Amino acid sequence: MRRPPTRNDDVDWDSWPVQDYLAENYRDLHPSDAAVIAHHSAFYRRAAPGSAARSVEFGAGPNLYPLMLAAAASRRVDAVEASAAGVTYLTRQLDRADTSWEPFYSLCRELNPQLPPALAEALSVVRVVHADVRGLTPGTYDLASMNFVAEGVTEDFTELRKFCGHFVRSVRPGGRLVAAFMENMPTYRIGPASRWPSCPVNPALVTEVFTPLTEQLAVTRIDADPSLPDYGDTGMVLLTAVRPPGPA
Ligand SMILES: C[S@@+](CC[C@H](N)C(=O)[O-])C[C@H]1O[C@@H](n2cnc3c(N)ncnc32)[C@H](O)[C@@H]1O
Repeated sequence: MRRPPTRNDDVDWDSWPVQDYLAENYRDLHPSDAAVIAHHSAFYRRAAPGSAARSVEFGAGPNLYPLMLAAAASRRVDAVEASAAGVTYLTRQLDRADTSWEPFYSLCRELNPQLPPALAEALSVVRVVHADVRGLTPGTYDLASMNFVAEGVTEDFTELRKFCGHFVRSVRPGGRLVAAFMENMPTYRIGPASRWPSCPVNPALVTEVFTPLTEQLAVTRIDADPSLPDYGDTGMVLLTAVRPPGPA
């Protein structure tokens, strides 16, 4: 018999295995990171430095490179994260980032010279917010970024769509959006044992979800990265868009 899909509230996010996730994904700069950074940098280069009074990283987790990228355009970046483990890691990193993040920052800065010379200076605009992204007040932000969250926090496609709606509505009308999704990733494992929910998505589904919610929608994809663990994915789906005027 098919088991019911695991939903976001079914999961103990406080026990998210931050160190295993970092070791598997972000200790080294992988080609897929470089591709996402290149995609997102093109988006941020179109924004004047400091043009966003407030940006949000939606489900920040322990990934610092989206925060670095957002710093080029933002006077403040809220890294919103539900997991106590993720919040602890992020808070420590803002005090002193691990040296493993330096190659990521070098690439971010190479692709967007609007960033300051030092990583610490870029991260000085980031505030860690221990909260559920679904509770954010709509229209709070000028710019929102989401990386591997809507499809990586539930197995329920209806809930995935709701997360995407919250993401779009987190910005004001006219606010800018950038996102990355794992492509076709089934429920996945991190470290030796832990299992986490996922919805397999592809460019067609991401386009279908975001078309009614956004304008200037651009969806692309990259191939799977053989240097990363095999999570069963086929690559990544990348998105930029704008929240249209009026209710989303
Ligand atoms: C697959 S990880 C992605 C982390 C990070 N954005 C990245 O680029 O690697 C999903 C993250 O979403 C967080 N999360 C899950 N449900 C959440 C919710 N309702 N509100 C805020 N964060 C949530 C998890 O704790 C985890 O850090």
